[in-house]
Amino acid sequence: MNVVTIALDSLAATTALGAAIGASLRPGDRVLLSGDLGSGKTTLARSIGVALHAEPELTSPTFILVAEHRGDLPIWHVDAYRLPVGSDALRAGVIDERQMHGVTLIEWPEHLAGLADEGPGILHVHLAVDDRNDARSAVIRGARPDLHAGLSTIVDPSESGRG
Ligand SMILES: Nc1ncnc2c1ncn2[C@@H]1O[C@H](COP(=O)(O)OP(=O)(O)O)[C@@H](O)[C@H]1O
Ligand SMILES: [Mg+2]
Repeated sequence: MNVVTIALDSLAATTALGAAIGASLRPGDRVLLSGDLGSGKTTLARSIGVALHAEPELTSPTFILVAEHRGDLPIWHVDAYRLPVGSDALRAGVIDERQMHGVTLIEWPEHLAGLADEGPGILHVHLAVDDRNDARSAVIRGARPDLHAGLSTIVDPSESGRG
């Protein structure tokens, strides 16, 4: 699988990444957003939402597990942080059949069981923050080819390879 790491030096870089991801998404796609607290998952989700003309804007509501938004496609925004690790995604109600008609963005996918992390419509973005210098980056796996084409136009991949 193609793996690309890109530097996110600024909020603008994250916004550009969100725009590229948003433009590449198709009905039924799922975006897994992993990374520590504060690594930028919600920021990226919001940028993807902007690209898809989400209404209302995506936020980080404290007690909401799944938020549904209108847009170019219906958007589901899941934050599984408060679910115990190993929670069944279907039983917890964070994935359902309607999502094949839209896109689902999932923060804290590592808390969920029963969620494929590879497949044709699955994009995994890991957001990393380097403790030493606070440098941020995104490690992207499983993207559609048109996303990889889009990425090369917004940033120079700092590293890429097969993983
Ligand atoms: N690329 C970036 N450059 C600078 N600050 C960023 C970047 N991405 C996110 N941030 C900031 O980091 C903070 C936490 O982001 P957030 O998206 O809420 O993280 P998470 O959802 O992973 O906990 C916010 O203040 C946000 O503005
Ligand atoms: Mg968040």
